[in-house]
Amino acid sequence: MTYNPDPLRYNSMMYRRCGKSGIQLPAISLGLWHNFGHVDEYRNSRSIVLRAFDMGITHFDLANNYGPPPGSAEENFGRMMKNDLKPWRDEMIISTKAGYLMWPGPYGEFGSKKYLVSSLDQSLKRMGLDYVDIFYSHRPDPDTPLEETMSALDLIVRQGKALYAGISNYPADLTLKASEILRKLGTPCLIHQPKYNMFNRWVEGGLLDVLGSEGIGLIPFSPLAQGLLTDRYLQGIPADSRAAKPHGFLHEESIPVFLPKIIRLNGIAQGRGQSLAQMAIVWLLKDQRVTSILVGASSAAQLENNVAALDNMAFSADELAEIEKVLNS
Ligand SMILES: NC(=O)c1ccc[n+]([C@@H]2O[C@H](COP(=O)([O-])OP(=O)(O)OC[C@H]3O[C@@H](n4cnc5c(N)ncnc54)[C@H](OP(=O)(O)O)[C@@H]3O)[C@@H](O)[C@H]2O)c1
Repeated sequence: MTYNPDPLRYNSMMYRRCGKSGIQLPAISLGLWHNFGHVDEYRNSRSIVLRAFDMGITHFDLANNYGPPPGSAEENFGRMMKNDLKPWRDEMIISTKAGYLMWPGPYGEFGSKKYLVSSLDQSLKRMGLDYVDIFYSHRPDPDTPLEETMSALDLIVRQGKALYAGISNYPADLTLKASEILRKLGTPCLIHQPKYNMFNRWVEGGLLDVLGSEGIGLIPFSPLAQGLLTDRYLQGIPADSRAAKPHGFLHEESIPVFLPKIIRLNGIAQGRGQSLAQMAIVWLLKDQRVTSILVGASSAAQLENNVAALDNMAFSADELAEIEKVLNS
């Protein structure tokens, strides 16, 4: 079926400025880490991406290794770009990354110029794109000088293979150094992508302040703790859930550990007339330094539920205190 996007797609989505840049991102962005590989049903993956675009989600986040198998999420996304989304390329912010293991030998992971440049060339081929909007160093490299990794990002932007540079999983001190290097090179750091959710608040210990003062945007990944911060596991472990799948990093053993908190948080969300996923999303958005929430989804219905979170973003002081009590228990 030929795809024609919803003409009203920009009417309800909220857009937030990414740090001190010229770019605005949708308050909710879509990540293609899980559910978009060759192991997944293409029809479902396509329906999620197209529904996202119909709801005003302009930002799609990938990485070289997303799948499984690695590279297959970019291939599937490339197929959607070619068959469905090509006419709307200029309305989209597409990101990819390199940092984790992608191919054997000394040039297939981490942060050398050799790896980053080769990996992006491969990603562009898989997606059938001339350029990505954001290219990330996916993780810090303890052995490569930070100057080399940052100058690779600068080179890539100057070559026109990416419009903006980003970093992911960098701690506060390295983020500050990376930002200073990039600014001197003339390619300011646009955005940082750290893990941040109600169950993992490491960014509050310094990184958020660095991002605020450096004018760098923040896009939290795994905002729903891979599905823990949803109603998915309230009645056991569904067969089609991430925890039940053989690949990935959410294991069945985590569910009973978090369940008591999940149940209490779900009660607070119900009191607000929201799903737990919705409450977890707007809880992150209450900080203005957070640009966009990078959710994953295994169905278009989940994504619709997540976008509807924006209908109720206000918290009372009592609700916030109650949430803190649960998280600190
Ligand atoms: N930079 C990095 O190192 C890094 C690392 C990880 C992720 N990321 C990025 O962050 C993106 C999001 O990460 P994530 O997939 O872990 O995000 P997440 O939003 O924390 O978890 C997504 C999962 O939550 C469940 N879910 C989502 N919405 C739901 C709803 N409304 N109701 C019930 N369940 C719902 C689904 O689980 P089921 O599949 O069980 O249905 C979905 O697959 C990735 O796609 C990737 O782009 C980046």
